[in-house]
Order: sequence, then structure tokens, then C-alpha cells
Amino acid sequence: MTLEIVSTSSWPDHVAGLLADRVAGELDLVVCLPTGSTPLPVYDRLPSALQARGVAVADVTVVALDEFLGLPAGHPARCDEILRRRLLQRLGPAGPRSIGFDVGGLDPDGACAAFDRELGHLGGIDLVVLGLGRNGHVGMNEPGSPPDAPTRAVALAPSTREAAIGYGADPAPTHGVTLGMGAILAAREVWLLATGAAKAEVLGRAMNGPVTSRLPASLLRGHPGLRVLVDDAAAAGLS
Ligand code: PGA
Repeated sequence: MTLEIVSTSSWPDHVAGLLADRVAGELDLVVCLPTGSTPLPVYDRLPSALQARGVAVADVTVVALDEFLGLPAGHPARCDEILRRRLLQRLGPAGPRSIGFDVGGLDPDGACAAFDRELGHLGGIDLVVLGLGRNGHVGMNEPGSPPDAPTRAVALAPSTREAAIGYGADPAPTHGVTLGMGAILAAREVWLLATGAAKAEVLGRAMNGPVTSRLPASLLRGHPGLRVLVDDAAAAGLS
């Protein structure tokens, strides 16, 4: 595991630069990207970071990490919509290909199976980027998710539902679909992002406490390619 602690003011540029460098080194990167509030300042800076390096993203594939169930297509709190508006659209017509969960139908299990099939055709994921839930979830792998949890439909924890209200979904969705812990841990690399004092306590437990399914982020410590990218406020709980 590598841990990088960066000042709050330079964290977004730092992470955008790392991502742009990563794409520059592997132009056909398959990268799974989160939504939530943590990565948004990174996405704001990514197009210019790519441009500064002269990196084209036409051969990159962006894979969705998770999605809420029950929100209509185009809803501003939908993960695919946030990723589209905050990143993909800004990368223009020569932007990356993207793969998401087709949750418009009535069958979330079928959407997960189709998503897994597409991932299978791609040969898996090179890099998974994750935010950190206040309850220690990654994606929508809520507490209790074992390391081999498949891509699946899940009931959302109360704090996840609360966060969804903050993203503009009110009433909050009760369920979602998520890339499973198994696929996250099978990726070649995993980057865990966390910023702000509100994440300090859970980050400390995830990195320094027991490795347990009760705190899914702690399971990432078993991954040889884990990179933890945090600002100094979130790092305050690390020992
Ligand atoms: P946040 O959410 O970035 O909005 O804090 C992170 C997460 O729940 O994964």
C-alpha cells in the first residue's frame, strides 16, 4: 500500500495529475470511476491536466462504480448523470467510451449480469478509483460486504441514503447496484480517495483497525496495488 497525504488546497490538482499521468502511460486504460462529492474537484481539473500532457482519451474506457435504483434517467443525482455532466461531457466528442448499469428496466439483477458481461469482454478493470463512505463503504458495498461480494443490487445503509439526499435525490433511494468487492479487489490497481475532517475517523479505522467485512474499506488493505490519496484533514485520524 502507498499512502499520499497532500494539503487540501493542492489535493484536486495532485490527483487529477496522477490520473492524467496514468492515462498517458496506458492509453487504453479501463478505469472505474466513482461519483459522490469527493472526486468532483478532481474531475473539474482532469480535462486541463490531460490537455497539458497532450493525452487523448478516445481509447480509454470509463466504468461506472455504482448506481442508485429508482431514479429516472437524467436525474441529477444519478451516478451516470453526474459522471456525464461533471466529466465525460467535458472531455468532448473524442472522449472515452463508458460502461454503466442499465437500471432503466425492471430487473436490477439483469442489469448487473449485463454489466459483468461487458466487463468480461474488456478483460477486467485496470484501475478502480473509490470514494470512502462515512460508514466505511466503497461503491455501495455497505458494511457486511465480504471480499468476494459480487456485482449486485443492494439495500442502502441509512448514511448512504442521507448522502443521496445531499446529492439531490429526495426522497432518497432505498437500493442501488454496485461493482462488488470481488471485482474491486481483482482490479490491477485501487486508488482510495478521501478528503475532509468528516472522513478522518473512518479512514483511521479503515487503515489502522481490523480488516473486516464490517468496514469494507479495510478489505482494500489486502490489495497489493492499493494507493491511498488523502488530504491532510482526512489524514488526521491515521496513526
Ligand atoms: P462522498 O461519498 O464523496 O460524497 O463523501 C463517498 C462515498 O460514499 O463513497
